[in-house]
Amino acid sequence: MNTPQRRLVERVAEHIKSKFADESSGHDWHHINRVRKLARQIAAQEGADVDMAELAALVHDIADWKFHDGDDTKGPIEAARLLRQEGVTQDVIDQVTDIVATISFKGAGVHTEMKTLEGKCVQDADRLDAIGAIGIARCFAYGGHAGRLMYDPDEAPVMHATAEAYKAAKGTSLNHFYEKLFLLKDRMNTTSGRARAEERTQYMQDFVARFLQEWGTPED
Ligand code: ADP
Ligand code: NI
Repeated sequence: MNTPQRRLVERVAEHIKSKFADESSGHDWHHINRVRKLARQIAAQEGADVDMAELAALVHDIADWKFHDGDDTKGPIEAARLLRQEGVTQDVIDQVTDIVATISFKGAGVHTEMKTLEGKCVQDADRLDAIGAIGIARCFAYGGHAGRLMYDPDEAPVMHATAEAYKAAKGTSLNHFYEKLFLLKDRMNTTSGRARAEERTQYMQDFVARFLQEWGTPED
C-alpha cells in the first residue's frame, strides 16, 4: 500500500479505537487490534491483500449483530458510512462490507461462506481471537456481562442447529465451549489459520478437562 493509503488505514484505526474505547463486553478495541494483527499475519502467509484484510478487520465488529436486536444489516451500513467518510473508494468499500456481512458465527448448524481470500483471512483471525487463552477469558467475561452462570453440573452440553436458537440461548459460559468454541477449528478457511486454531483448541480442551476435574462430582 502506498503512503496515502497507509494513512487512510491509520485514520480508520484511530476512529475505531475511539469508538470502542469504553466497550467491555468482549468487543473492545483490543479485540479489534488483535484481530487486525492476526488478519495481517494470515493474509501475508496466504498471499492475500494485507491492507484490505486489515481494513476489514478494523471495521468487522462496528455494529455487531447480537448487540443490535439481531439486525445484522447494521454492520455493513455502518462500515460503509465510516469508510466513505474517510475517502475510501467504492470498490474497496464493497469488498469490505461484504466481509463484514458474512463474518459472524451464527450457530452450530449454520454455515456462512466467505467469498474473498481476504474475507477468509479476517474470519479466521476473528475466530482465533475467540479461542485459546484469550478466548477462554472473553467467554467468561461475556458470561459475567450477560449475568450467566460459569457452569451448571445439571445441564448437558447443548448445540444449536439454527441461528435463532443460538441467538436465544441463555446457557452457561462452559456450555459456550460446546456450542461454539470447540467447533471453530473445523470452520477455519485457511491453512495457517487452521494450524493456529488446532493448537489453541488443544489448550481449551485441557482447560475444560481441568475445570471439570476441579469441580468434581456430587460423590466427591
Ligand atoms: P466475535 O467477535 O468473534 O464475532 P461474538 O460477537 O460472537 O464474537 O462474541 C464476542 C465474544 O463473546 C466471543 O469471544 C464469544 O465467544 C463470546 N461469547 C459470545 N456468546 C457467548 C455466550 N453465550 N457465552 C459466553 N461467551 C460468549
Ligand atoms: Ni470480532
